[in-house]
Amino acid sequence: MITIAHISDLHFGREQAEMIGELIKSLAKINPHRVIVSGDITQRARKSEFISACNFLNSLPWPKLIISGNHDVPAFNLFDRFINPWRKWQRYTGYELEPVRKELGYIAIGVNTARRSGALFDWSRGRINEDQTDTIAKHLRTADPDSLRLVVAHHPFWLPEKYKNRRVVGGRDKALSAMKQSGVDIILGGHVHSAYTKIMDGIIICHAGSAISDRLDMDSSNSFEVIQGNRRAFSITTHAWQGKGFATAKKRFFKRSSGAWQETPAQHNNSA
Ligand SMILES: [Fe+2]
Ligand SMILES: [Fe+2]
Repeated sequence: MITIAHISDLHFGREQAEMIGELIKSLAKINPHRVIVSGDITQRARKSEFISACNFLNSLPWPKLIISGNHDVPAFNLFDRFINPWRKWQRYTGYELEPVRKELGYIAIGVNTARRSGALFDWSRGRINEDQTDTIAKHLRTADPDSLRLVVAHHPFWLPEKYKNRRVVGGRDKALSAMKQSGVDIILGGHVHSAYTKIMDGIIICHAGSAISDRLDMDSSNSFEVIQGNRRAFSITTHAWQGKGFATAKKRFFKRSSGAWQETPAQHNNSA
């Protein structure tokens, strides 16, 4: 059984200091095999924010997979944004833009969906293209069939009804269909600062809320997710901020049958 902690949208620059120690305490209790960070580690891609984010992330003693989000691209310096949007990310974090980690029991593939610009001036929207889904397929062709297949992408592949004015990641339909072909099990994301999980076409889409920033959406609280199980069945637990620390707010169970995932009641799930 593997345990993955999924945190997102740290937004250093807008972090809430009192939550940082509590998040580390919660992660220590969970002791995950890996911490996955699904983007927006800074608020405005400032050097000081990258340094604070990396001080925090590098202090976590677990293996990590970290991707960027739209906030990790300079917003106001248009020269930086258009000429080399990832210069600061590469210079101050040293993290890969599209990391892939393969371990016993799982493979996690990071996809950079942030873009330097977008249609209709909605530069925050993000996109996934065919080269990226081809790369995912290439990695999964040689993956152990029993390993859980996770894709990590900052932008949403599905949005709850309350976000009807926002848009899913560009290229979503083609990408989902390609990922279904490749046998992707779960897509981990962030961006909307709200925790939710939805099954689309047999693939689980799991979005973590903002773990520690004060950029909260509507009725959301700070939160992170824990995925625990294997390629036959797993659970997703939402840990939400409850005033003085993080505590379990919700736990859902999922089972894979004929290549597609479905939600199950807790008592029908023996593996997670
Ligand atoms: Fe964000
Ligand atoms: Fe974002």
